[in-house]
Amino acid sequence: MLLFAIESSCDDTSISILENGVPISNVVSSQIVHEKLGGVVPELASREHQKNIVFVAREALKIAGVSMQNMDAIAVTIGPGLPGSLMVGASFAKGLALGLNIPIIGVNHMEAHVLSLHIPKNKPTFPYLCLVVSGGHTMLVLVKNWDSMEIIGSTQDDAVGEAFDKCAKMLGLGYPGGKLIDQWAQNGSVDFYSFPVAKLPGFDFSYSGLKTAVLYYLKKQSPEFIQTHMADICSSIQRALLQPLLDKSMLAMETYGLNQLGICGGVAANQSLRKKLNHICEKKNWTFFVPDFQYCTDNAAMIGQAAWYKWKERKFSPLTISTQPRLLVGQNMNLPMGF
Ligand code: KG4
Ligand code: ZN
Repeated sequence: MLLFAIESSCDDTSISILENGVPISNVVSSQIVHEKLGGVVPELASREHQKNIVFVAREALKIAGVSMQNMDAIAVTIGPGLPGSLMVGASFAKGLALGLNIPIIGVNHMEAHVLSLHIPKNKPTFPYLCLVVSGGHTMLVLVKNWDSMEIIGSTQDDAVGEAFDKCAKMLGLGYPGGKLIDQWAQNGSVDFYSFPVAKLPGFDFSYSGLKTAVLYYLKKQSPEFIQTHMADICSSIQRALLQPLLDKSMLAMETYGLNQLGICGGVAANQSLRKKLNHICEKKNWTFFVPDFQYCTDNAAMIGQAAWYKWKERKFSPLTISTQPRLLVGQNMNLPMGF
């Protein structure tokens, strides 16, 4: 069974071909146009997707050594994401499904991030806890089954990836900044400065206070001081960003009596987060799961993985399916236009 999976919800155009649920190609084209603008510009993102999607598709087919005529179904991200960007992928998917007369399978981007944990050989068994940390989301998800997920905690304001990016911007490091803070932090001291760590009740998170604290701290320093102590500052900021993720994950694991913890989303690529969670899980005798780096940030292989579960149960979408920029985890997405 060959599946052609498309991801275009934000600023990465990605196509993956999966053979019996296993990715045999996964091409990601990241849009550099946003770098100099310090954040994703939605109108530019959709135009870039439109420019790139055919080339990305050709490359994915070439690597997989298959042709469009071999495909059995088309999988595509329906939401959440940027309206224009989602529409490029969905329209491309509909054109292909219609032309080839094969089914289309709509996929929830956030559920696909969770199911990216099922791409490697060593996958978790249901139920488990998943910490979803991306540019747009920070949440703890109780994963009961591939189609049964419950959000037990989420951010009240900024997502952790967004906070990473905003702090990096204030430090003049460029966009997207999570990876850059991660790299700098590796050579710095976490004790250099104590930034406030938000403490919300239950399993929720908040990052707006930290963002403001970083802004005021940096305002008081000279550019030379910041440059000289970049590694230490990044390390201290990173600790404040990661601490709530560690604390709340542990609390949720214990409260729900689980023994498997997974992380996914762009911030799951963070070296320190991976190391710390792995250490906690070892100590507590829990099994820790994390996707390969290429499946942490936005990619079509995870869309294909989510669609593979749907394919096995013949859960196809109507060709009238519309994109849903604010789609929630667990929400029914197969609504035609007008709903
Ligand atoms: O999942 P993703 O690719 O896109 C969304 O759906 O949002 O996540 C992108 C986010 C960005 O905020 C980026 O800065 C962050 O993931 N990120 C990282 C790292 N690599 C990417 N944050 C911290 N450390 C990293 N190594
Ligand atoms: Zn994502």
